[in-house]
Formats: sequence, C-alpha cells, structure tokens
Amino acid sequence: MGWDTWNHFGCNVDEDTIVSAANAIVQNNLTQFGYEYVIIDDCWQAPSRDNQTGAPVADPTKFPNGMEYLSNKIHSMGLKFGIYSDAGTLTCGGHFGSLGYEEIDAKTYAEWGADYLKYDNCYNEGLAGTPHISHERYANMSRALNVTGRPILYSMCSWGEDGPWNYAQTIANSWRISGDVMDSFDRYDERCPCTSVIDCKLPGFHCAVSRIIDFAAPLGQKAGPGHWNDLDMLEVGNGGMSFEEYRTHFSMWSILKSPLILGNDVTNMTNETMTIITNTAIIAINQDAAGSPANRMWKRSISQGGETSLWAGALVNNTFVFALLNTSPVNQTVEIDFVDVFFDQGPAYQTQPYEVFDLWQKDDSGNWGKNIGTIQGGMNVTIGIHQTMVWKAVPAPQASTKRNYAEL
Ligand code: GAL
Repeated sequence: MGWDTWNHFGCNVDEDTIVSAANAIVQNNLTQFGYEYVIIDDCWQAPSRDNQTGAPVADPTKFPNGMEYLSNKIHSMGLKFGIYSDAGTLTCGGHFGSLGYEEIDAKTYAEWGADYLKYDNCYNEGLAGTPHISHERYANMSRALNVTGRPILYSMCSWGEDGPWNYAQTIANSWRISGDVMDSFDRYDERCPCTSVIDCKLPGFHCAVSRIIDFAAPLGQKAGPGHWNDLDMLEVGNGGMSFEEYRTHFSMWSILKSPLILGNDVTNMTNETMTIITNTAIIAINQDAAGSPANRMWKRSISQGGETSLWAGALVNNTFVFALLNTSPVNQTVEIDFVDVFFDQGPAYQTQPYEVFDLWQKDDSGNWGKNIGTIQGGMNVTIGIHQTMVWKAVPAPQASTKRNYAEL
C-alpha cells in the first residue's frame, strides 16, 4: 500500500511534490491504515546519466538535493521510498532507461535507500513476444536488485505482456496485468483494445475500471503472498468517477488483492475520498494473510448493458469474503445462493449458518463492518448502479444437538 505520483501529477514531479504528499500522508494518518510506500514515477531523471560512472542521476532542477536526501527525508517520516525505471533504452516519458544498466542502477537505487522499484516496459527494443524473452529481461533487474542485499519490492510494469502471471512469481513481487487505468468506470476507449489480457497484443492505455476488473477475473489463481496481480494504481479522488464507482474501484482492487497504491492528490482530499481509502474492513480483506484473491463465481448479462457478478474468496481463520458487483446502468435485485459463494468449500459450508458483516456499513461503535445477522442458504439484495457490496462471512456457532453430561 502506498502512493504514486503518476495518476495525478504525470511528469510534473519535483522534491516539493513528493515531500508535500509524504507530509499529507502522515498528517492524514494514512500510515495507520497501511499506506507506506511513496513512489516517484517517471520523469525524475536528469537528461543523461553520469558520464564518468554511468550511474543514474536525478534532474538537478527538480531534485536539487538529490535522491538520497529525499529518501532519507521520507524514511524519517516513517515511510518507504519508491523509484521508477524502465526495462528498455528509454522510459515511457523519454528519459534514460535501465536496459543494459541493471547492475549500476540497482546499486544506485539501493544506495539511495530505495524500498520499491516500479519497472516499466517502453522502448524495450522488441525484447518481448515470448514469456522467455520477457522473463530474461525482467529477471536481469531482479538479480541485480537481489545482489544489492537491500530488500526492494520489485514491481513489474510490463502491462501483462507475455503473461507475467505465468512466470514472474519467482522474480518479482507484483506485475501489472493490463494497459494503464483511466479515471473512468466504463468509458469505451479503443486505446485499450484487448477484450481479454490473455494473449493481448496491445495492452495500450485508457483502460476503464470495469474493464480491468474483467481482465483480472481469471488471474486470481496465479497470485498469492509475495507475488501479486497489480491492477494498476488507484484513481479514487481524481474526479472522473462517482462516489459509488470509486467504492467499487477500491472494493474490487481490495478483494482481488491488488496493491493499493493511491494515485490522487493526497494534499487535497474530500471527505468522500478519505471515507473510501480508510475503510479498515475493506483494507483488512486486501491485507488478509491468506493472500487469496476472490474469484468470480458467476456473471449475468443485463439487457441494458453491463452485468451483475458474484465474487467469493477465502480468508484466514475459516472466514470468507463475498461481493456482488453491478456494472449495469440499472438497480438490480439479486438472489445470492450460498451454493455459489461456497462452491469451492463444498456442501457442509454451503448449508451452514454464517454471521454476515456488511463491510460498507458501520456498526454501532462506528467501526466498518456491520453485523447484519445470522444467515443460512443465501440472501436477496438490491444493488445500485455501478455499486459493489462486500460482505464477510464467519461460520456461526451451530446449536449442538448433543446434550452434555452436566445436563443429564
Ligand atoms: C506507463 C505505466 C504508467 C506510468 C507511465 C510513465 O507505461 O504503465 O503507470 O508509469 O508509463 O511514463
């Protein structure tokens, strides 16, 4: 969990942008909710590397005190420091990339005190097209990072090209699954042309949130602790979606166990934005130690467009999460059958009663996750336009049919 410059600031980044954001993260207590990485995305670089050593250099105008200074400052605030580069000759913004410079770059990032590397895919000289070629290119940086001895979270940003979910588990901690997210719920955009990311030949950008959810649906089986599907940075708070849509965005990224990297201006947030990004019950699902992404158990097309879909996943301690998503433009009444929710667990789980908690409602003490009762078999719900409802299910103690000795 953390924050990244790109979605809101693009290339307009400098020391001030980062320090102000880090300050805002601390002042808004976001650290308490788990947000800890402060990541500088593209455009931090000087026009060229150090011409003597070949080491990467930060833009001296944007970062007059250099990266080590900035990193120390971020660490002194109790946060972690993330940097960005590209497995190509240039970054997507046209700055120097790391292809062929993996060792010196990893060493320099470690000296700067980096805790996270986002590693992009532009200008890769055509070194893609098979999983093996992509693997080798990304593994070079993985090895170089490991050689430094510093723990650095390695976040691959190859947009799902060559199916990193099939090979990246042993070299990276997360991998992007698609082209860049756009701050829109379902806007059609030909620049994100693939209808599925499996064998997608042009990941592109301007991928709407509902489309990325669809992309992620089959990939949960490939992720787990230490190796995650990255659905891209959050757009919550950037203005292009409604409150309900942003709640869906945050809920789905959470239950699919995507990294939660904020992409808004954290120095200027509405109460609605804060409400969404600080829902502790939803965050707990994202951070659940079992690390098991929810799976889509069914989807049903709606005649006016979009669909309803049911998602379910296992959590630690024999507890479960399930969610209902409505991407259609009409409210829907849906019957959720526990045979579907607990399909993976089998008949005993499908028929037993559960204490069910609605994770977007607060209980009487003001904590997220209201107990809505003991429920058996299934439930009927009405769901709004573009809404996601998320519940946690805890097996309820069943009345014992045996009488104990003391009662006799
Ligand atoms: C894209 C990447 C974005 C952002 C951008 C920077 O390739 O997917 O998240 O990093 O490059 O130029």
